[in-house]
Amino acid sequence: MLVGASWVLDLRVLLGVNRRVPLSAYRWVFPVVSIGLLVNVVTGIMLFIKNATKWGTATPFLVKMALVIASVAMLVPLRSHVLRNDADNEDNEVGGQPS
Ligand code: HEM
Repeated sequence: MLVGASWVLDLRVLLGVNRRVPLSAYRWVFPVVSIGLLVNVVTGIMLFIKNATKWGTATPFLVKMALVIASVAMLVPLRSHVLRNDADNEDNEVGGQPS
């Protein structure tokens, strides 16, 4: 859920794949990503608790957590961009050129 829906959104908003599809068609992604993330965080914390001293000191795990936080932080501006009223105007594309 989380990875699939994020991919669809990132391909459209960040890489401009399928530009003809209006951004408003991607609103569904945010509730799906939120539910997927919630499930992942809950189950992730359960896995963490099982062996907290191991994971709490493992550098790869801490890197993973930093990436999870970065991806959520990235989602916030992406969400406001997609939900913005005039987001369907291609002039407002992230990284797009004003015409
Ligand atoms: C706050 C969020 C998260 C926490 C606390 C967390 C915690 C953990 C922990 C402790 C493990 C090790 C489990 C073990 O081997 O005993 C793990 C494994 C894993 N996590 Fe997360 N995780 C989180 C979010 C995510 C996210 C967002 C993804 C991917 C989208 C993800 C994907 C995975 C995968 C693929 C594994 C390997 C599973 C396995 O070894 O069977 N996790 N996670």
